[in-house]
Amino acid sequence: MNEFFNKDIISIRDLTKENLESIYDSTNKIIEMDSSERREIARGKALGYLFFEPSTRTRLSFQSAMALIGGTSFGIADVQSSSIQKGESLADTVKIMSGYTDALVLRHTLDGSSRFAAEISEKPLINAGSGTEEHPTQAIQDLFTIKKELKKIDGLKIGIVGDLKYGRTIYSLLYGLRNYDVNVHLISPESLKIRTDSTYDIKKELSYTESESLDEYIEDIDVLYVTRVQKERFPDMQEYQNVQGSYKVDSKLLEQSKDNLILMHPFPRTGEIASELDSTDKAKYFNQIKYGKLLRAELLRLVLTE
Ligand code: NCD
Repeated sequence: MNEFFNKDIISIRDLTKENLESIYDSTNKIIEMDSSERREIARGKALGYLFFEPSTRTRLSFQSAMALIGGTSFGIADVQSSSIQKGESLADTVKIMSGYTDALVLRHTLDGSSRFAAEISEKPLINAGSGTEEHPTQAIQDLFTIKKELKKIDGLKIGIVGDLKYGRTIYSLLYGLRNYDVNVHLISPESLKIRTDSTYDIKKELSYTESESLDEYIEDIDVLYVTRVQKERFPDMQEYQNVQGSYKVDSKLLEQSKDNLILMHPFPRTGEIASELDSTDKAKYFNQIKYGKLLRAELLRLVLTE
């Protein structure tokens, strides 16, 4: 039996390096599989999604991943149209949904929401974004993308730029990178540096620098991971105004970069990456999305089948 069968995926911290490497290997097997064979994997199974925050890629990629392996999916994408609007609790919503389905995917505004919901759910639950805390499947897909594009993770210099305070994809990515021998440069405005409650854990196993200047590192890095400023998470809009538009990655900036630099972004982008870069070999964000669907298909296979 595979060790993920019937298990929740809440934090990338729960996965070992061996787990991650075996997920990349088995995702490659899913890619190579014949499509009719793939459709047998989840035949007759249903995925339920509960999205308490907006989403385009994550929800649709889980849905398309489930379709790819022959299952169906349904759920709540807009809380306004559900009984949550009438005051139904998260606990009741999860309990009910888990009775209709074989696995759940949850996105919620609150830190800790996925762990809480997993305790209530009768079926395995996958965290698709919990507050500012984590977004584990995004980070596994990001690590997989780096491995696919650069053939390795160890030895790389990785620049992570943008909103490091509120961006949950960053936390999952940093926790995941602790398993590798990498140098990380964290680049953000002073007020959007990573939260000190998480650095304790990260510092023990990851070497990183913190700076405000992207120019300083652009020549040196192999991967540039760009994030948006998370407007909706700012308690004070004035603060947001002060930092929005702090970084802009464009062809001029990339003139100074290595030829084989790869440019990544979890999306949505809100002006941090100029669209003039989309057609260049460095832009890997659309590949990242493509790999995300395949990786999620594999994660669903793991939790749904023995
Ligand atoms: C991210 C998220 O929701 O955390 N989006 C995604 O799932 N790819 C990033 C973001 O919203 O900035």
